[in-house]
Amino acid sequence: MRSRSMSGTRDILVVVHGEGRGRDVPTGRVFMDRLRSTDPAFAARFRFHPTGSVRPSLSGVAVVLFWLGDPLEEKYPECYREAVAIADEARAMGIILLNSPESLCNTTKTRQAHIWERHRLPAARARSVRTPDELVATCRELGGACIVRSDLEHAQRDVMTVRTKAEIARAAQTCSYPAAVVQMFDIRGEYRLAGASPGDLFGRFHHKARAFVFGDSAMASHLFFSRHLVVGLSNSLFAREARPRRTLARRFGFRRGLFARMIHEDRAYFDNGLLYRKTLVEAVRALGLDFAAVDYSIRPDGSIVLWEANPYFYLPRGEESVLSDERGAVNRVNQSLDWMAGILREIADARKEQAA
Ligand SMILES: Nc1ncnc2c1ncn2[C@@H]1O[C@H](COP(=O)(O)OP(=O)(O)O)[C@@H](O)[C@H]1O
Ligand SMILES: [Mg+2]
Repeated sequence: MRSRSMSGTRDILVVVHGEGRGRDVPTGRVFMDRLRSTDPAFAARFRFHPTGSVRPSLSGVAVVLFWLGDPLEEKYPECYREAVAIADEARAMGIILLNSPESLCNTTKTRQAHIWERHRLPAARARSVRTPDELVATCRELGGACIVRSDLEHAQRDVMTVRTKAEIARAAQTCSYPAAVVQMFDIRGEYRLAGASPGDLFGRFHHKARAFVFGDSAMASHLFFSRHLVVGLSNSLFAREARPRRTLARRFGFRRGLFARMIHEDRAYFDNGLLYRKTLVEAVRALGLDFAAVDYSIRPDGSIVLWEANPYFYLPRGEESVLSDERGAVNRVNQSLDWMAGILREIADARKEQAA
């Protein structure tokens, strides 16, 4: 006999986008594959509900976790409405929600910025603008240098950086409205002003750090450097150095120093544990979220500036990570997945005990 009937509420219901109803981010499959190998009994307690399918029964459910694209209401209004109905029913039954549908609406660039500003968290100011005139005035208000981008899109899509009057005027004519105007920080410049040595990657390149936050805990993920202010995997030094020509050049002794330093910084970031846990945890909590991957940068004085919280984050298998061997990615990704599973298990079992 299955133990469910004996121990009552024990399942974890994960709400995901139904076919054709949203972008699929396969982190969940990577997570489940790992969990099936490390703790099959816990893995067996997961159920999945694709939006658009028959309304799930919540009987026997301890936790409902919403694994849906964000900002949810703006991008996927039908999934949002369905998720809210499930969340309301779950709340009435005393079931724990993780990343509630309402919290998944707080990650537009401007809403996130307002929330963090209100909580006095270190982040760029941002405004939503509807006309070219408003855009020009807002860039002036935010100090001139700004990032102009879609309020809703992630993954560095439709991003313009403007510093001069001419660039602001061009952006005002070409961007689509409404647009988000974000105050620009030059963290690399701060390192240079602080007297970074020529070999210091933080003074030579732009960087962004990523950490996972789950409740009160945080865990480092990766540290990317890039020649571009808007740092992403595709423009990172990792992606560049992983190309076959660069790999070959290193075999002949070129750029080995740079490569070694960049791997060292990324590994040290992961190994040394997080110095910024409190701010990262507060940032995610302020948005009403329970877990997210947070992008941020580290300033020369040791403080941080937050870029964004991604509740619907992509985490590939370690084997598929960029420069997997050099970065020890398999072990790192597995550690991250096990850490997430451990927290989820604690939450689900606390609920189970309460119900018993
Ligand atoms: N206000 C800002 N000033 C300077 N750089 C920024 C700012 N906001 C974001 N960035 C850079 O752009 C990258 C992408 O921005 P992010 O907010 O993470 O959006 P997304 O990844 O959804 O496109 C960040 O990793 C960071 O390198
Ligand atoms: Mg990002």
